[in-house]
Amino acid sequence: MSLSDRCARAVNIADLRLLARRRLPRAAFDYIDGGAEAEVTLRENSRAFEDVVLRPRSAVVTSQTDLGTTVLGQDLALPVLLAPVGSCRMFYPRGEAVAARAAGAAGTAYVLSTLSGTRLEEVKAASSGPCWYQLYLCGGRQAALAAIARAKAAGFSALVVTIDTPVPGLREKDLRNGVKELLSGNPFAAFPYVWQFLARPRWLAAFLADGGLMKFPNVVLPDGPMPYADVGTALAESVVCWDDLRWIREVWSGPIVIKGVHTADDARRAVDAGASAVVVSNHGGRQLDGVAATLRVLPEVVAAVGGRIEVLLDGGIRRGSDIVKALCLGARAVLVGRAYAYGLGAGGEAGVARAIEILRADLLRTLKLLGCASVGELDGSYVEAPPHWRGVQP
Ligand code: FNR
Repeated sequence: MSLSDRCARAVNIADLRLLARRRLPRAAFDYIDGGAEAEVTLRENSRAFEDVVLRPRSAVVTSQTDLGTTVLGQDLALPVLLAPVGSCRMFYPRGEAVAARAAGAAGTAYVLSTLSGTRLEEVKAASSGPCWYQLYLCGGRQAALAAIARAKAAGFSALVVTIDTPVPGLREKDLRNGVKELLSGNPFAAFPYVWQFLARPRWLAAFLADGGLMKFPNVVLPDGPMPYADVGTALAESVVCWDDLRWIREVWSGPIVIKGVHTADDARRAVDAGASAVVVSNHGGRQLDGVAATLRVLPEVVAAVGGRIEVLLDGGIRRGSDIVKALCLGARAVLVGRAYAYGLGAGGEAGVARAIEILRADLLRTLKLLGCASVGELDGSYVEAPPHWRGVQP
């Protein structure tokens, strides 16, 4: 059976995850799947959706159900954007361009990570939909200025500044899989870990044909694109802080989205700094383990923002009902990371398209079962959230 046939038969995102596990070498699969330290926040992000229950209105006819919305003034066919996910070329050849093409075809937006293996111009050209550029300051201000200028020239319509990555989180699985040794350039250190790649010969052939271990073509240093092994140090050397938003604002006239907000205070700072939107995000449980699930802090952030800018959410979304719950608690739209990264690892464009289609069909069915005719009509009356969550209306 072809990869696309297998993806077409996936019933839910968990099925795509299993397909990705079968196709990818362990180090690549665990890089997508894993979280920081004890993975408490990773698990909690998904589990928190169980704390919110739905309150349907029965015997309501919703023959025309509208999933469309606007985010930052751009029309989207559904309130689901593809989150920035680094290193997608490890999951599938030209991974970032492939995922962007699937997003555009589904009528939604793609957010390209700074830590992408594909040139940003190629990614933008691949998509028929809106593309946003996610900015890390790794490589320093000069590298960031060059990337911002390129993103602007290529037609990226928003800049997403991620603020929760002063150092990379401790992903224990990466350590066990020898990621450090594999990137060290020392064949003796890497040797004990290469079996994972030999166990996936088809993946390996495709990876090598795509150019093998990539550099980061959108982080251009004086001596060329940033090598893979330098990411951790580069992130730690160029921490983004609120003051940086001033110079970023000067060189980027379009909307700025602050990603990685999980308190009311930081949400207010983002408004004061001139952001057009915030993403309530804990980086999918990959950074500071032990922070609350994003769904739990969403009402607090929505209350603090008070409608002045748009609030987006990511973390743990695997089903359409998760999207509905986030929208009912005040998110304008959600971003998904792993849900589409599993699809990309499972079968490239067909896998990403299947991930989006699963979420779209889920969303449509959930709205009909709720008795709600459009995502724009979702509000707090369709859910019951734990009253002890900050910001939840009694
Ligand atoms: C990410 N995420 C991320 N975020 C970001 O701002 N820049 C990046 O380069 C990356 N890279 C990255 C790689 C991988 C493999 C994953 C899974 C995630 C975080 C991402 O944008 C998003 O916040 C989370 O993925 C949301 O959680 P879910 O949907 O994966 O549960």
